[in-house]
Amino acid sequence: MSIPTPDETTTGNTKTIAFFGATGGSTNACLTHALQAGYHAVALARTPSKLTSQLLNQGLSQNTLDSQLRIIHGDATDPAAVRETILLSPTHLVSQIISGLGSFPVLSRGSFFLPHITLDNPTICESGAKALLSALRSIYSDYPSLESSRPLLTVISSTGLTTSPTPTDLPFLALRMYHFLGAVPRADKMRMEALLSVSQTADLVRGVVIVRPSLLKGSGNVTGEGKGWKNIRVGKEQSPAVGYTVTRADVGEWIFEEVVKKEGDDWIGEKVSLTS
Ligand SMILES: NC(=O)c1ccc[n+]([C@@H]2O[C@H](COP(=O)([O-])OP(=O)(O)OC[C@H]3O[C@@H](n4cnc5c(N)ncnc54)[C@H](OP(=O)(O)O)[C@@H]3O)[C@@H](O)[C@H]2O)c1
Repeated sequence: MSIPTPDETTTGNTKTIAFFGATGGSTNACLTHALQAGYHAVALARTPSKLTSQLLNQGLSQNTLDSQLRIIHGDATDPAAVRETILLSPTHLVSQIISGLGSFPVLSRGSFFLPHITLDNPTICESGAKALLSALRSIYSDYPSLESSRPLLTVISSTGLTTSPTPTDLPFLALRMYHFLGAVPRADKMRMEALLSVSQTADLVRGVVIVRPSLLKGSGNVTGEGKGWKNIRVGKEQSPAVGYTVTRADVGEWIFEEVVKKEGDDWIGEKVSLTS
């Protein structure tokens, strides 16, 4: 596997993008589009062989993976592994970070015997955000000149986090379902979003794009699953796109087209709702 050279981090579409959670469908779709377009990528994975076979199944060649992708074997809650993923050399950081960390849902009995969904790791998004901020702090402490090339951060969160008076991004019929079934994942996402507020991250990243998809469908396969990134509805926090579902393929493609390619120009500092 070749490691992108420092010059490749800043020139043309050979910028290097870091991915966390790339064996998840949405982030996998984004990574696939990025590699197809010639970007270089570093991805942290707990099971590198799983990521490799997913990308080959997406139609990428082994040659593309060998020349454009570096996979770091590790855990996204480990600041040392995160640091290894985003620090390319003592003089270069990745230009963007895309994180779609999530955890395996487990059905559990909630209050009043109503079921709710908890997670295999109920703090994965919060822990991942903490590890990332910790890794960035340690990098700037060791290499202060890198503060001038702070990366852009995009995280996948969820709809259903807004509270009055902010308009809800959930359709009426989904409100109760989210309340009873989604309390644990939602709380984790809220803690992650709080950690990534401008006041906490301004000196660490160039900006943060928070993507809030509605209920996710499909595996993230980039051919034939989605309706296309231009055909989904997109909203911001004060005027959210309200809907039930969106495919992982469309979420990944939207992040690639609007954030990776355009440097997130229209979306930095926004909580972007995506739905079909
Ligand atoms: N399900 C929904 O309807 C829905 C709706 C809105 C938002 N979301 C959120 O959207 C995001 C993306 O969802 P998705 O379905 O595309 O992906 P996903 O299936 O939730 O994938 C989660 C990713 O996180 C990785 N991961 C988990 N713990 C890790 C750790 N400790 N270290 C390294 N990697 C770790 C997983 O790796 P492994 O392969 O090693 O497990 C996987 O790559 C998630 O945060 C999800 O909660 C979901």
